Amino acid sequence: MKYNDQIEKRRTFAIISHPDAGKTTLTEKLLLFGGAIQTAGAVKSNKIKKTATSDFMEIEKQRGISVATSVMAFQYGGKQINILDTPGHKDFAEDTYRTLTAVDSVILIIDCANGVEEQTERLMEVCRMRKTPVIIFINKMDREGRDSFDLLDELENMLKIKVRPLSWPIGIGSTFQGVYDIYKKELNLFAANKTKISTDVVKIENLNDPQLVKIIGEDSTAELQEELDLVNGVYDDFDKSEYLKGNVAPVFFGSAINNFGVKELLEAFLEISPSPQGRETSIGFIEPQNDNFSGFVFKIHANLDPNHRDRIAFLRIVSGKFERNTFYNHTRLDKKFKFPNPTSFMAQDKSVIDEAFPGDVIGLYDTGNFKIGDTLTEGPSFSFKGIPSFSPEIFMELENKDPMKSKQLEKGIQQLTDEGVAQLFVQQPGNRKIVGTVGQLQFEVIKYRLEHEYGAKCDFVPKRYHKACWMTTDNKPQLDQFVRAKSTYIAMDKDGNHVFLAETPFLLQMAQQDYPDITFHFTSDFKVTQES
Ligand code: G4P
Repeated sequence: MKYNDQIEKRRTFAIISHPDAGKTTLTEKLLLFGGAIQTAGAVKSNKIKKTATSDFMEIEKQRGISVATSVMAFQYGGKQINILDTPGHKDFAEDTYRTLTAVDSVILIIDCANGVEEQTERLMEVCRMRKTPVIIFINKMDREGRDSFDLLDELENMLKIKVRPLSWPIGIGSTFQGVYDIYKKELNLFAANKTKISTDVVKIENLNDPQLVKIIGEDSTAELQEELDLVNGVYDDFDKSEYLKGNVAPVFFGSAINNFGVKELLEAFLEISPSPQGRETSIGFIEPQNDNFSGFVFKIHANLDPNHRDRIAFLRIVSGKFERNTFYNHTRLDKKFKFPNPTSFMAQDKSVIDEAFPGDVIGLYDTGNFKIGDTLTEGPSFSFKGIPSFSPEIFMELENKDPMKSKQLEKGIQQLTDEGVAQLFVQQPGNRKIVGTVGQLQFEVIKYRLEHEYGAKCDFVPKRYHKACWMTTDNKPQLDQFVRAKSTYIAMDKDGNHVFLAETPFLLQMAQQDYPDITFHFTSDFKVTQES
């Protein structure tokens, strides 16, 4: 197959949702369609149940599962589909944000009863920042939920994106009869069925077709006609190019658990979603068609086997062809590496691959050479931009509880933060280590892993910081002065950038007032957001 065809046939995306909206269920149904799994129940949810927050073995088990299901590839309709899994638990939100840098589009699931939830908003913020094309799937239509128009309004208002329904539900919950596919002009009749993947489809070109009344009844027909008139009056026609620019999100309705609306979603996805896209780098934009191989690491996972300290680095290929046993340049280390056992992920199986193409995600065995955001290239050296760090929300100082094991502690915390489990800020004097996370659960994970994987014991002492702010300025003397004046609140991040640890919103505001030439950012990705 020609190289360009290899690119064109790939679709790399993530399914994102607030926990419990149906991400695991939808993923599983998609894999069933693709024949990647044969039975329902094969995909385990990688969410950490609320009751298990202090159950460390559970965390370990969950980590294992999420390695196995991190990337799920399958073939459907002549396309090679790569689904990147994202953790459901909000304490692992940063992992999700990073994964979103490796996809070309997303499917966002909304529970029809709950509408937009906290995590939905946060995830969508990241998609908006990156202009990622989004398709919305309103799930659980077999249950009583909210009015569809109200839901669409809420999506537009809270997620700050225009929407365009491409299918429309007939009834909801106990009165749910099916979905009218506006895009294909077909009526899909609902039959609750958790194991079969077929639905009854009737072609209805014209809403005045007498067949419609016969099938769904007079009242529902009148209602459907009226609602569709409203839909077509209120929403602009679907414009694929606006979707690809991330300006409008097409909306589908269905019930993942019942396999309903899933096939339509998948087929529309294949028709409109983008093929692998290029990425911005330190030397400009790199297109996937570029002959030289390039890719970046967006996730690192420690191997579960305690006897083998190696880790898996997940690399998204951006351009060129990756080949096994070929030397590539590791830009940050300026060193060449080759990979004898690169793996691909087909559902739960990992297998060694000889080559891979743009859009693919491969696993590279790593003995500690990779950090999140690292670039591998062939030809000219450059690095990819835009694996953001967000300001953590909880800060703790790391305290060594076993002075005999300080080396192990140092190594462990470095490696775990390289993996992106948490962010590390180092304060002088004394090399004090402040660990920042988005959730409490990560501290438990770090403590457990430091002890079990590195033999080090630690404690965490809470620090009352409000935000970590990265800083930029054109007025270097002012920044130097600020760093001197606030030295007790200044730390270094992993890349050697100064970070201001603001104790309260008020103190941050004061700093902004007193040092007007400094811009304070809540993410390390200055180019993308310009928050202050
Ligand atoms: P998540 O990965 O987004 O967290 O959600 P998940 O797929 O695990 O789904 C959360 C719950 O919602 C599950 O029920 C699942 O069965 C249910 N669900 C998913 N899709 C639908 C749907 O279309 N209709 C209805 N009625 N329910 C749906 P659970 O009781 O938490 O788990 P389980 O015991 O069913 O596994």
